[in-house]
Amino acid sequence: MENIVFYFSGTGNCLKVAKTIIKELGNGEIVSMAKAGKYDLIKQYYTICFVYQTYFWGLPK
Ligand SMILES: Cc1cc2nc3c(=O)[nH]c(=O)nc-3n(C[C@H](O)[C@H](O)[C@H](O)COP(=O)(O)O)c2cc1C
Repeated sequence: MENIVFYFSGTGNCLKVAKTIIKELGNGEIVSMAKAGKYDLIKQYYTICFVYQTYFWGLPK
């Protein structure tokens, strides 16, 4: 079963982390959260991962 990593990255750090995670997991893809609305999450994934940075001590809006 596939893996999927959703990421949000301003300057590239989280993109690099997302790429590293999917490389380690093997089978799957990375998706920008900006485009995630197009995704059909009815499909089953083995792993669903979210990568994002800290903005002002919390989650980015
Ligand atoms: C507006 C702004 C607010 C931030 N606030 C925090 C923070 O509260 N704590 C922290 O450790 N890093 C903070 N950072 C640093 C980012 O979380 C860090 O540089 C991160 O690696 C950026 O990821 P990206 O390259 O994927 O955008 C902030 C960066 C920005 C631009």
